[in-house]
Amino acid sequence: MFRADYASNAHGIGAHRRRYLVYRRAGGNGRRQGSGAEATEAILAITVRALQSTDGAKVLAIYEEAIKSSHATFETNVPTWREWDRVHLPAHRLVAIETDPKKVLGWTALSRFSERREYAGVVESYVFVRADARRRGIGTALLNGLIAATEAQGLWTLQANIFPENEPALRLYQRCGFRVVGTRERVGRHRGVWRDMLLLERRSPTVG
Ligand SMILES: CC(C)(COP(=O)(O)OP(=O)(O)OC[C@H]1O[C@@H](n2cnc3c(N)ncnc32)[C@H](O)[C@@H]1OP(=O)(O)O)[C@@H](O)C(=O)NCCC(=O)NCCS
Repeated sequence: MFRADYASNAHGIGAHRRRYLVYRRAGGNGRRQGSGAEATEAILAITVRALQSTDGAKVLAIYEEAIKSSHATFETNVPTWREWDRVHLPAHRLVAIETDPKKVLGWTALSRFSERREYAGVVESYVFVRADARRRGIGTALLNGLIAATEAQGLWTLQANIFPENEPALRLYQRCGFRVVGTRERVGRHRGVWRDMLLLERRSPTVG
């Protein structure tokens, strides 16, 4: 069912594997180590690694949760793995897993921005975190992992299209160095309603 020939090494990310410790304030919401003066308590250790062929069903389940919400994506149907695989670039597909147990907590991937050669280093990015694992720094770990992997490969601009109402995504992308380029007004219809979309981008300071 899942693509067996996923060749992460061919795209230079096979070795991409980072371990993050995600911390929570003793009294409450998810928060990373060092982000506040409060005492912190380790809640889980996560690893960001290349997506493997066996992760497909979990990736789609996380996507389905977000599709059912109102502000994550224009997509309204859960794709098959074949469809997901076709629209996302084979390089730089990453997942966050708990080291114990090995649950997939979130994923990040890219799609092509343009066929034109001059835009070869410009790509559209996506980050999705399981609903019960949000606000623990996992989105940040995934997006920072994606930035590092794409810069290492010579890609220079990551962009993202985010509904203005999607405050978590806006915060996540801005804290990872993206800026709001502007608002695209009534750019598409979502469940019968015309929606605005924010275009965000991060231009690599090191590539090019
Ligand atoms: C957007 C998303 C990926 C964030 O993942 P996450 O693991 O919760 O993100 P983090 O814990 O790393 O938090 C990143 C920032 O967003 C903020 N944030 C997260 N959830 C928030 C919420 N519900 N309200 C306000 N801010 C929020 C965090 O506080 C943090 O900012 P800070 O460091 O300035 O405090 C997650 O909410 C998600 O999967 N949403 C559905 C899919 C989606 O919308 N993807 C984006 C379009 S591609």
